[in-house]
Amino acid sequence: MTKRVAILISGGGSNMVALVDSMTGDHPARPVLVLANDPHAGGLAKARERGIPTHAIDHKPFGKDRAGFEEALQKALETAEPDIICLAGFMRILTPAFTAKWEGRMLNIHPSLLPKYKGLHTHARALEAGDTAHGCTVHEVTAALDDGPILGQARISISAGDTAETLAARLLPLEHALYPAVLRRFAQGDRTPVMLKN
Ligand code: GAR
Repeated sequence: MTKRVAILISGGGSNMVALVDSMTGDHPARPVLVLANDPHAGGLAKARERGIPTHAIDHKPFGKDRAGFEEALQKALETAEPDIICLAGFMRILTPAFTAKWEGRMLNIHPSLLPKYKGLHTHARALEAGDTAHGCTVHEVTAALDDGPILGQARISISAGDTAETLAARLLPLEHALYPAVLRRFAQGDRTPVMLKN
């Protein structure tokens, strides 16, 4: 049976576009919803252009009420009935109560070679550490931030002269290759990690 995929975004949504555009032909999944926590997220228009239903739940009016925000998120998701949720540049931390509801069905892409550099500023942190390799990871979402079983990684080498900006720019096309490759496998029930090297 075709799997239903909801994609959560906060910004431009280039990973969301890569995922949506991959789900055609014999792909085992289809996008059913693009959901943003920012009504101005650039990705919403890109999803609409592609005929995907969109929804925005602004987190700001909820203030510190994470449970209230997540309740609204849960309601929108339950209406769309996804089998799989892809976090794609979704920049809100989700509570264990929420992640527990979707454990085993929720994926995230993170711009580092996890378990290195959980959280923010991953490119700068790789440079500061003097790393020679960097990359991105797709993993299952569990209660702990940027943790959970790794489903795929893509690597790049760090060269002299690289900055956080050049690393981000070199990595993004690999994110766009990795996430769809992992999703295709995952939707078929295959959790074997996808390893890409540039
Ligand atoms: C991507 O680089 C993604 O890996 C990162 O945000 C960017 C979103 O870009 N995600 C995180 O940092 C999650 N902690 P996009 O909106 O163009 O897909």
